[in-house]
Amino acid sequence: SAAEKGGYDYFMLKEIAEQPKAVADTLLGRIDAAGSLSLDEVRISAAELREVDKVVIVACGTAFHAGMIAKYAIEHWTRIPCEVELASEFRYRDPILDSRSLVIAISQSGETMDTLMALRHAREQGSRVLAICNTNGSTIPRESDAVLYTHAGPEVAVASTKAFLTQLVACYLVALYLGQVRGTKWGDEIRAVIRDLSQIAGAVDRVLETMEPVRELARSLAGKDTVLFLGRHVGYPVALEGALKLKELAYMHAEGFAAGELKHGPIALIEEDLPVVVVVPSPRGRSVLHDKIVSNIQEIRARGARTIVIAEEGDEAVTPYADHLVRIPATPVLLQPLVATVPLQVFACELATARGNEVDQPRNLAKSVTVE
Ligand code: AGP
Repeated sequence: SAAEKGGYDYFMLKEIAEQPKAVADTLLGRIDAAGSLSLDEVRISAAELREVDKVVIVACGTAFHAGMIAKYAIEHWTRIPCEVELASEFRYRDPILDSRSLVIAISQSGETMDTLMALRHAREQGSRVLAICNTNGSTIPRESDAVLYTHAGPEVAVASTKAFLTQLVACYLVALYLGQVRGTKWGDEIRAVIRDLSQIAGAVDRVLETMEPVRELARSLAGKDTVLFLGRHVGYPVALEGALKLKELAYMHAEGFAAGELKHGPIALIEEDLPVVVVVPSPRGRSVLHDKIVSNIQEIRARGARTIVIAEEGDEAVTPYADHLVRIPATPVLLQPLVATVPLQVFACELATARGNEVDQPRNLAKSVTVE
């Protein structure tokens, strides 16, 4: 009913708008007064976490994209090797696991059969399983050794939005917590990022306030067949997520690429007026990557692409090459997906509406996939 949708036309719109609160709620009570993380609810002892020699993340779809981003954070802040695998592929390749492997299963619903089967397989090999889940008491957390709940509240739209942002928050918390417990050389950075994370809901809110031009752009592209998405580093999974949203909602051919791969094939797809969304890494921090992506934008534009550039406020290097420029607030490099994903959600939702598609219930899809 209209009341359930809180005045929005679709649950998806409501859920996109709820993201600042969902993010804040997922952080609530998990950062103490001294600015350290307290994750006692993760009932795997600090001693056990210090023994972990490998992290393996399993998930599907959007949750898998959260896992891809988690890998960058976990390896950077903890120096523990981390693999991310589609849950549906995991157990069939006889993965190498033992009691020192920490397996993280990410699932909004907690009922996804592929993810459940992957975690059962991990536990059979003696690994500890930590669930990141949005649904209290669902099967995946019940069968895991520990759970860190995301507090997105119920997500009704089939296309995942607020659950994704909170999965990212939970992944950052786990990565930072592992770093904190194990005491890496990144101690100061970890403390600074925890501070930034506690402010990030405000940044998500600011993105939401500036989305009208994105909606307008989406409407103007309603007649297109294909949209490509490019990103690098944590922007690569964001590109994949943007493409997945567009497939699900707009039924368009959408593909995400690591921008560095362009020259290895995908650049052949570029033609006159093809919309290409580029997620630009922060010019601070890893500025080498930033410069490389700016060259990519130049290359595809020289071949006729219509460039839709998502870049940090104050990043002027991209301006001459952007046919459409979407600004996002500056964040620490690893946290950028929390703000960069939002315009892509809005873009896909508006394109679906413009194409007359059912936003909350896309064809052929179910909210949780309880078959393998
Ligand atoms: C996201 O928009 C999708 N509908 C889908 O990829 C989803 O993320 C995936 O099926 C995993 O679901 P889960 O998080 O409930 O396990």
